[in-house]
Amino acid sequence: MDKKFLLVGNWKANKSILEIDDWVRKISEFRKLLQDNAHWLTVSIAVPFPFLLHFKKATQELPIVLSAQDVSAFPNGSYTGEVSARMLSELGVKFVFVGHSERRKLLGESPTLIEKKITQAIDQGITPIIGCQTFEEIPNTIRNFSPKQYVVMYEPFEAISNDSGFHPITSEGIGQTASDWLGKLNMQIQLIYGGSVSPDSISEISTITNIQGAAVGRSSLDASQFAGIIRSLVASRA
Ligand code: PGA
Repeated sequence: MDKKFLLVGNWKANKSILEIDDWVRKISEFRKLLQDNAHWLTVSIAVPFPFLLHFKKATQELPIVLSAQDVSAFPNGSYTGEVSARMLSELGVKFVFVGHSERRKLLGESPTLIEKKITQAIDQGITPIIGCQTFEEIPNTIRNFSPKQYVVMYEPFEAISNDSGFHPITSEGIGQTASDWLGKLNMQIQLIYGGSVSPDSISEISTITNIQGAAVGRSSLDASQFAGIIRSLVASRA
């Protein structure tokens, strides 16, 4: 396998500052592994807004890229409570989740809002990771940009681990969806998969032809599990 791979943890609305420090302490033991593989493996964590700066400072010795979980559909201005792409860019954020299925479902985010967020992120040099459960959810607006400027994440909502369980998708199923989407789009884009990725499933997921990354929720919260995912990825590459 010589493809590049994006591994992005999504902490969602979890963690305290103390827990972050503990996580960073544990992941620091894998600094060499991260550094030795940084030429093909990009590791990132999507941190809750209030902790972005703290996480950035805590990981400055580590090759871990800063991501955010959301971005405003508006630029800087009179938009109370919003966090603009420019603010995220100033913090050094490189990727941002947009249209994650939890936000579409629980917060009613519309396709129009999602398209605006994508544009804001790209305008500020941040790569949106666009969550889509179906081909129809892939926003048309991506055609206005170079495929290098965004990532599409296939994330079947029912496969995302939550308190009511999850329904794992087989790697054949993921592979079929990936080739179906790429065929319909008729262009090469970076496609990643999200939904109950674990240290056990990552090796198989990483070998799926058209999948060039994985988003990890629950298994990113625990540093040893997340390190287990990194180790499995590196081992399957060897
Ligand atoms: P999970 O979350 O790994 O906990 O299933 C994945 C996601 O939300 O993308």
